[in-house]
Amino acid sequence: MKILIVDDDDMILEMLEHTLVPAGYEVLRAHNGTMALEILSQEPCRLVISDWDMPGMSGIDLCRAVRSQDFVSYVYVLLLTSHNSRESLVEGMIAGADDFVNKPFDPEELLVRLRAGVRVLSLETREVLIHSLAKLTESRDPDTGHHLERVQHYSRVLADELSRSERYRDMIDAEFIRLVFLTSPLHDIGKVGVPDSVLLKPGKLTSEEFEVMKRHTTLGSETLSSALERMPEARFLQVARDIAASHHEKFDGSGYPAGLKGTEIPLAARIVALADVYDALTTKRVYKEACSPEVTREIIVNSSGTHFDPDVVDAFISCEHMFDVIREQFMDISKLS
Ligand SMILES: [Fe+2]
Ligand SMILES: [Fe+2]
Repeated sequence: MKILIVDDDDMILEMLEHTLVPAGYEVLRAHNGTMALEILSQEPCRLVISDWDMPGMSGIDLCRAVRSQDFVSYVYVLLLTSHNSRESLVEGMIAGADDFVNKPFDPEELLVRLRAGVRVLSLETREVLIHSLAKLTESRDPDTGHHLERVQHYSRVLADELSRSERYRDMIDAEFIRLVFLTSPLHDIGKVGVPDSVLLKPGKLTSEEFEVMKRHTTLGSETLSSALERMPEARFLQVARDIAASHHEKFDGSGYPAGLKGTEIPLAARIVALADVYDALTTKRVYKEACSPEVTREIIVNSSGTHFDPDVVDAFISCEHMFDVIREQFMDISKLS
């Protein structure tokens, strides 16, 4: 990872480089704020360590300038400072600094703080990646309005409700709920590989076409599995893959693509399955009218243990009022007219 170091004192630049290069960072140098901005506008660099006091543009001015520019990715700014009063820190934070290290700096502390910065940036990368993949899904199926957002929110509410029950307390933590929320919009990512003639067909699909459509589950899981091979520690990719692969499985084993049964179906997929169907039922599509929430509830309750996990259905009944709020909040424009 590249780091831009900014200081008017060559000795400090030297010491910084001496700490950062052995730790695996690539270092770019600037002697003042103006030069730093120039480098940032030319080179993709997401980490900046800057001195606070510099002639001309100070570290604080540099922070403000960085925040006011529209860089493609977030730039993490760490200020080196001998100003450690509360007022100065607040001033630094308001200007947009992310962290502070006292001068003279302790190399070990600096590296630890940088690792925290890299972690923040990687979280941002994860969200940007998920968002662009979800947008890709949407681009193939533009008729579905706010479907992805609604499914995302319904899924979170369900996961949250389940986490309160004795049985799921140890299985569902805050991170799992967050990952279900983040990755559920990718459930139909495999539709990118389904031909238009099937995906956009206005009428009912023939059984052959339906077989082609079903493939969106395996296509999606293959795509995410290959990303997972490269980043095996990325839990968000595991959850995303589970959801893409298994959101059409049914609790009694009659779903697709693998005919998984009961708890063989990953929990995240059992949750998204209900959220996805609820949304499909309660929204108008080209080929059908919307069902009322009451009818939808009846259909879901009647499918407890067959299509859906009974525990997820129970969670749904307990938090159905939240579904009403989400449905209203993300109502499609076409439904309003
Ligand atoms: Fe699907
Ligand atoms: Fe869907």
